[in-house]
Amino acid sequence: MVVTFVPKESESGETRVAAIPETVKGMLKLGLQVQVERGAGVVAGFPDSEYESAGATLVDGDAIRSADIVLGIQSPTPQQAGRQKAGSLLICTLTPGVRLATMKALRDAKVTAMGLEFMPRITRAQKMDILSSQSTCSGYQAVLLAAVHLPKMFPLMMTAAGTLTPAKVLVLGVGVAGLQAISTARKLGAIVEANDIRPACKEQVESLGGKFVDTGAPPDAETKGGYAKEATQEFLNKQREILTHHIGQADVLITTALVPGKKAPVLVTAAMRKAMKPGSVIVDMAAGQGGNVEGSVPGQRVVVDGVTILGDTNLPAQLASDASRMYARNVLAFLGEFVKAGATNVNMDNEILGAVTIVHGGVVRHEPTAMALAAQGS
Ligand code: NAI
Repeated sequence: MVVTFVPKESESGETRVAAIPETVKGMLKLGLQVQVERGAGVVAGFPDSEYESAGATLVDGDAIRSADIVLGIQSPTPQQAGRQKAGSLLICTLTPGVRLATMKALRDAKVTAMGLEFMPRITRAQKMDILSSQSTCSGYQAVLLAAVHLPKMFPLMMTAAGTLTPAKVLVLGVGVAGLQAISTARKLGAIVEANDIRPACKEQVESLGGKFVDTGAPPDAETKGGYAKEATQEFLNKQREILTHHIGQADVLITTALVPGKKAPVLVTAAMRKAMKPGSVIVDMAAGQGGNVEGSVPGQRVVVDGVTILGDTNLPAQLASDASRMYARNVLAFLGEFVKAGATNVNMDNEILGAVTIVHGGVVRHEPTAMALAAQGS
């Protein structure tokens, strides 16, 4: 019997859980036995009793030692990784670039480690795409946070006490999170502008009722997979020049710009931020990846020159219930890719498994991680 273990997340501030009672039922249908650490889903709104009713067994954290498959949200510590038995699977958000010691521990313990953030963006894998599901939560939550911190309402209001003008929101970076931010801000009644370097974004922004701020696109802005390429300094300078005027008009600035494998581009310098009115709010969703806004601090909320800058690094954890629901459904869909009738078939020739498997059989398969470990002499 293949035993799947769902731990209670240990990282500070992590409220999500990688399986919910609904997906436990799905795992049982795949023929897996499911063990859930006591209290794993409580903060996300899924009590132990519901996991038990769904057919899971409640266990303590030590059960990780005998599990065949471990499901998680965050990358484990090296100590936790070392507790898994040889040949077992770990499925979570691995972030190998910032967890080298964990990758080494997984390699040495001969664990097969799969990073769901490496899911290829092909149609078949859409239902397994945690980046999309969690970015949807982040984009929504960023707008709500901004609305709470802004000393002004979002919609146009015509009242007996006179008319209140709508808030102006500027979104920089229009991937999954940015599109959700535009949609949420529009639903709250704000006037929304947005910018991205990928030309395809213009139509998407307009279809959501936003205005596209055109800063031009580098000739080769996009990879085949639809991701942004790193822009040149010359392009970024020109982009900043155009954006400064729009930033000065905005009550709320939400930045989401990322370039895979690179530090986030600085779109807003300290000088540009000075154009903003006191009382305005910035949510720098890239704060944890280096920041799009000079002066944002990862994980902190600061006020600079009267402008509130929110650098929250785990927005999905603020929506623990729905974020877990979506993540857990992504995980179940992923398990369906290689578990049939209670047996696993971990085949690296499978396009999806090959892409997400970072460590397998004592070898680090992900080249940048293998090179970084070699450079450390480990
Ligand atoms: P992301 O999180 O990697 O980046 C966010 C946004 O920042 C992107 O839109 C990017 O173009 C933008 N950006 C980068 N540098 C910038 C700069 N200097 N100025 C302004 N904006 C900048 O993006 P995400 O959300 O992962 O989406 C990437 C692509 O993947 C999109 O084309 C999206 O439509 C596509 N996608 C495809 C899926 C599928 O086919 N299964 C699922 C989800 C997304």
